[in-house]
Amino acid sequence: MTHVAPSASFPRMATGDENPSPKKKPIWIGEMELEDIPKVFELGEELFTADRWPTLYRTWNQYDLIERFASDGEFCLIAEDENDQLIGFAIGTVIIKRASAWDYGHLLWLGVRPGLAGKGIGKRLVAKLTDLFIEGGARMMIVDTDSENEGALRFFRASGFGQETEHIYLYKNLTSHPKYEKKMAEERAARPRRRAPSGVPRVPTATVPPEAPLVAVEKDDA
Ligand SMILES: CC(C)(COP(=O)(O)OP(=O)(O)OC[C@H]1O[C@@H](n2cnc3c(N)ncnc32)[C@H](O)[C@@H]1OP(=O)(O)O)[C@@H](O)C(=O)NCCC(=O)NCCS
Repeated sequence: MTHVAPSASFPRMATGDENPSPKKKPIWIGEMELEDIPKVFELGEELFTADRWPTLYRTWNQYDLIERFASDGEFCLIAEDENDQLIGFAIGTVIIKRASAWDYGHLLWLGVRPGLAGKGIGKRLVAKLTDLFIEGGARMMIVDTDSENEGALRFFRASGFGQETEHIYLYKNLTSHPKYEKKMAEERAARPRRRAPSGVPRVPTATVPPEAPLVAVEKDDA
């Protein structure tokens, strides 16, 4: 991953939500910048954990975040406190349907730092993103989350979302698939052989890191 250092010639983009006076608002909502990506990723890692919401955990990754920032930067927002510390983010996209009069604003990811929930930060992020979606031509907004994510569901309902429909994720563990086993065997064969020092017993190495159970059926709103 290429890292570009922030520079003075790369100022924060104004979103119209800033305080016009020199005194900064306690909470600042604005466009995400390149240097924010690692902090946003870390906060997402804190929020979307395998034990709580496996689907959110599996689909939250830094490469997707970078791609989203590159393709939909105007719909990537952050919230910062008065000390410029990241306290929340909202990431979305506008889905344009060529054959339809309906374009959709999809809120893909939303997160508020644990400990700061219930202070209206999520609400402000969603309100700002909603404005941007409307400016981008959206006529309907879509949100989704794990069906077990009761807090987020209550938040979305309180924010005016409804018409709930179910979307089901199914998983299949591919590590016993013949193609996967063949690939692993080829990779093992290609690896340079290291000799264990004499007297030290060989310890087998796991090919797949431990993770939440893979064979599971979960429901998710789409
Ligand atoms: C869901 C989340 C984004 C809400 O953000 P927040 O800053 O705590 O929410 P707000 O303070 O702006 O609350 C807005 C409204 O939702 C309600 N609300 C928020 N969280 C709630 C909860 N857990 N239970 C009940 N109501 C809740 C608030 O009461 C408030 O209602 P009001 O406008 O009538 O006062 C935040 O809790 C979070 O980051 N959760 C973990 C990540 C996540 O689930 N993301 C969403 C799916 S990707």
